Amino acid sequence: MKRSSYCGDVREHTIGKEVAVCGWVHSRRDHGGVIFIDLRDRAGLLQVVFQPENQDIFKIAENLRSEYVISVKGVARNRPEGTLNPNMLTGGVELVAAELEVFNTCPRLPFEISDYVETSEELRLKYRYLDLRRPNFQKNFIMRHKISNEVRSFLNEEGFLEIETPFLTKSTPEGARDFLVPSRFHHGSFFALPQSPQIFKQILMVSGFDKYYQLARCFRDEDLRADRQLEFTQVDIEMSFVEEDDVIDLIERMLSRVCKSVSHLDIKTPFKRMSYEDAMLKYGSDKPDTRFEMEIVDFSHELKNSEFGVFSSTIAKGGVIRGLCIPKGADFSRSEIDQLTKFVSEYGAKGLAWMKITDSSAQSNIVKFFKEEEIKTIISKLDAKSKDLVVFLADEEKIVAQGLGALRLKMGRELGLIDKNKFNFLWIVDFPLMEWDKEERRWQALHHPFTSPKDNTSLTKENAGTAKAKAYDVILNGIELGGGSIRIHKSDVQKKIFDILNISDESAKQKFGFLLDALTYGAPPHGGVALGFDRMCAIFAGEDSIREVIAFPKTQKAFDPLSNAPAPVNEKQLKELGVRVVVK
Ligand code: AMO
Ligand code: AMP
Repeated sequence: MKRSSYCGDVREHTIGKEVAVCGWVHSRRDHGGVIFIDLRDRAGLLQVVFQPENQDIFKIAENLRSEYVISVKGVARNRPEGTLNPNMLTGGVELVAAELEVFNTCPRLPFEISDYVETSEELRLKYRYLDLRRPNFQKNFIMRHKISNEVRSFLNEEGFLEIETPFLTKSTPEGARDFLVPSRFHHGSFFALPQSPQIFKQILMVSGFDKYYQLARCFRDEDLRADRQLEFTQVDIEMSFVEEDDVIDLIERMLSRVCKSVSHLDIKTPFKRMSYEDAMLKYGSDKPDTRFEMEIVDFSHELKNSEFGVFSSTIAKGGVIRGLCIPKGADFSRSEIDQLTKFVSEYGAKGLAWMKITDSSAQSNIVKFFKEEEIKTIISKLDAKSKDLVVFLADEEKIVAQGLGALRLKMGRELGLIDKNKFNFLWIVDFPLMEWDKEERRWQALHHPFTSPKDNTSLTKENAGTAKAKAYDVILNGIELGGGSIRIHKSDVQKKIFDILNISDESAKQKFGFLLDALTYGAPPHGGVALGFDRMCAIFAGEDSIREVIAFPKTQKAFDPLSNAPAPVNEKQLKELGVRVVVK
């Protein structure tokens, strides 16, 4: 071993001892005949001193450049009075070099290895190996490892078995596009990469494994965002003989253990629970950020007969009117309000009605249409204060919820209402089982079609819109961390659901026949959940994007600049696979 200690671990207890360290030259300073090197490894930086008396190595040290890889042996000592650096973990010590070996050199860097230098994402990912040397990344991946370790220990102690499921499989119904892999043995047939291990974990329950988990890689061909990648990792869990509360309780204990051990945070359990209906009404979202209040309020009843035509006609058409109070928003100029109107129009809203609250009443272009009584109701239901701005959307429910939900978040961020130190866990429960797909004119499963209804006996095609699911999502600070459900374990109930979803016997058989067959052979009642592991790590690391906790992510344009993937393949490969490329 060329090394006796990590650079970042040399401390006061090492003083007077001989140490050997290896690492990368972070910086070099020449100070009147003495050379200082900050040497970096994954544990941190260490100051190394080269003195001119040691001529042989001093000469070599003069030629060291950024990112050369070296090993230094020497004795650690206290830094002289006045040269201590309280910002460095090793700021009280330095290593006096006695021996130096240069393992490798490094050309001019495309960007500086620093947490404080902004570089384009394309360049960062092209030179990802350099990017990952940044101290913040080293910290993030050490944390990611700690979290996965903690998750595994917890589940192992709870009696779970880690079982792997295939990557080369059949399409799973998680709602995204599949990645397809052509088969060399069966031309014209394709494997699909799993969007999740959903069907296989249910089959493992039929096999009697009882408690399964996997840190599973999932593949979804969807548009990328800060919290979405083409491939990502789930903490995937399935259990037999359980109900909703059992799964919820397990996840609460797992998350509180991770919070404690990784961030020294005590979080309160049980987490709050909110119905889907309440979340959509008050927060305009199924993943509410409850770190700030600013709740949406419904006025459909109070303002249905309003003289303001936009409101009354919306109600007549079966829509809703909802409002939001923006604290201190009365200072907004007309053009700022126009900006807000433009913002909600991206969600389909046709306008944004507004009123500035004054000491005695309200003021705006539409106040004249409202009775004093109505203004009073608005002020009191929104708990609006003088100098606040109240805004309204009137439209079909989905547009109003989405528009005001997004506006609430935007205002929360811009007005600094969000306490970044809060860890607000929340369960969303009582999801609808299905939602109506207007374009395809049929019911769609809100989660996936294996989710158990709360009550299957009274369920029919006609009342499917009111049926609730045994499903739950866990939300942290406005981010959907995970979701799951109790599954249908009886094939007759599964068939009924497929009927309502308009999935024919033939199509069900072709797509999930193997699961339906398995359910007939003594399937136990079962349920589970999957947590987005990358999202979890990003939140714990304080990062906005999951790309900061994934070693080799794709760009926003679904491309990997490091390996230049995806890339064309040669004719021979295509021929073997029976694939012909059509260039448009
Ligand atoms: P679901 O589709 O809700 O459920 O996925 C579970 C969690 O996975 C994370 N996630 C993602 N993370 C990064 N990039 C993506 N593209 C991406 N898509 C999803 C989210 C999400 O909450 N089989 C079911 C679970 C079950 O019912 O047990 C499933 O996959 O954090
Ligand atoms: P108008 O009658 O078009 O001049 O609109 C008067 C005000 O109502 C403007 O501030 C519009 O932005 C707003 N408005 C128009 N349509 C809607 C709507 N569907 N919901 C809320 N406000 C609206």
